[in-house]
Formats: sequence, C-alpha cells, structure tokens
Amino acid sequence: MVPTKRVGVIGFPVEHSLSPIMHNAAFKALGMDDWQYDAMSIPPDILRLGLREPRDHGYIGINVTVPHKEAIMEYVRPDEKARAIGAVNTVDFRSNIGTNTDADGFINDLRAHDVSIAGERVLVLGAGGAARAAVYGLAGAGAEVAIVNRTPSRAEALVRHLHASAGIDGLRLMTLDEAAGWGMTLIVNCTSVGLHPQVDQSPWSQNLPFPAGRTVYDMVYRPATTALMRQCLAHDGRAIGGLGMLARQGAISFELWTGVAPPIDLMQRVLQDALESAHKD
Ligand code: ATR
Repeated sequence: MVPTKRVGVIGFPVEHSLSPIMHNAAFKALGMDDWQYDAMSIPPDILRLGLREPRDHGYIGINVTVPHKEAIMEYVRPDEKARAIGAVNTVDFRSNIGTNTDADGFINDLRAHDVSIAGERVLVLGAGGAARAAVYGLAGAGAEVAIVNRTPSRAEALVRHLHASAGIDGLRLMTLDEAAGWGMTLIVNCTSVGLHPQVDQSPWSQNLPFPAGRTVYDMVYRPATTALMRQCLAHDGRAIGGLGMLARQGAISFELWTGVAPPIDLMQRVLQDALESAHKD
C-alpha cells in the first residue's frame, strides 16, 4: 500500500536518528500500512522553508531534533510544555502546535520502573535542554529538586526560566559536594558525560564517595550501562538507562499524530537492537 499518512523527523544531520525505525516498527506491528515515518535533513539556514515543504505535502506532523528544537519555536505555536522546556520536539501540522514530549517521556519511564517521585529529593545533574525537561517534569510530579551543573550560571538561568515560564519555585542549586550529603533518593544525569565514546567518564567525581542505596536514571543510553550507573550499582543502588525515555517520548508523539497508543516494549526493543548492531560496526 502506498503510504498516505506521513510523519517524520527534521534535523541536521538526521541520518543517525533512531526515530524512523522505532515509529515504522510500531506502524508495522499495528498494521498501519498507510503510515510512514521519514527522516528529513534540513540545514538550519533554510529551516522555515524546510518546515513548509512537509506541511504543504500533507505531512500530519514531525519530530524536531538537533539543531532545530529551539529555532522552530518561532514558526509554530509552542504549548506550555514547549515554552517551559524552551524547545519543541513534536509538531502537529493540523493545529501548528509545537509541544515537547521529553518531560512526560521521562516521567512515564520513571513510573514504569516504579520509581517514587512525589515528595522525594531528586538531584539533577546538568542544566541544558535535557535538564530543563527533567526538572520541569520532576517539579510537576511533586519532587523536591536540586540542580548541580559544571557552569553554575547556566543552572541559575534554568531556575529563572522555569520560574518565569511555568511558575516553578523552590528549586535548589548546589555543588556536587553539597549534594552528596543532601539525602536524595534519585539522581538524574542530564549531562552528556559518559556518552559513547567517553564511556569511562562520570559526572560524579571519582574522589567523592558515592552515597549508598540510591537510584540513578541516566539519560545517556549509549552505552547501555554508563560509568555513573556502575558507580551506583557498586554502592547497593539501582540504575536505569535512558532508552525507555527515548521510546516513551516517541510514543507520546505517535499517539498525538495517530490517536493510537503504540507498542512501547516493541519500540524499546528495536531501539536496543539498532544500538547493539551500530556498536558492532
Ligand atoms: P542538552 O540540550 O542535550 O542538555 P547541552 O545544552 O549542551 O545539551 O547541555 C549539556 C550539559 O552537559 C550541560 O549541563 C553541560 O554543562 P555546562 O553547562 O557546564 O556546559 C554538561 N556537560 C557537558 N560536558 C561536561 C563535562 N565534561 N563535565 C561536566 N558537565 C558537562
């Protein structure tokens, strides 16, 4: 059957995006033969034009990845989540609304792993876009959040932004030394430290004792077990990698466009297979 319902992802470069295999596997599993998910490489200097093309050609919606997530806000109607996170990762062309599914994907994955959030002390490492999504999601779910970042001024900017855009108050800024004694139950890595190929690096300094019995959620999913996760596991803790978040943020976009809940376990499995086969190359 010729695909008549099209969605996709725009980015630059976009060739390495795992979204097409994840979404197309879900379409296939659900017998949605008239749907197709494409990867579209759009250079930043023609973002506006590159956005118009899929819209004019009947695409229902798109995902947006690096480097367009912030710039695209000018050309769509960002919802409250996108404004708070400061980035759009999903657009529905039927309404031209841009949203961000990262925070909900993250929180949904914590819940799928039975990690308690409300009333818990949660330490977020990092202050970039990923951290904004995590802090927004955690604060909304009732956690007490502290932020540690290499560049403290960026963490201060994050706190100011979430206050102004979403009315979030009570966020704490700390050094890692202070955080070590704070008594958090969950540590979330939103930095890129530990990402392949720097697999031996950890955002938790080797010189600082790692607190026992905590949960680490590492948004890094390549490698599947990061150095930070290993530190946590070595101290009687629990460690969760970021692949589930990747699947679940995609699942929210999928449902938004199609009205159908996708098979999340399958999406996660195909992501895992793709990462494992990429690793063999
Ligand atoms: P994203 O949008 O994916 O979050 P980003 O905005 O580039 O990406 O943010 C990357 C995060 O990783 C930042 O918090 C960055 O810290 P700085 O704000 O100090 O740059 C953090 N990060 C990256 N490399 C790091 C390193 N080697 N040590 C500590 N933090 C690092």
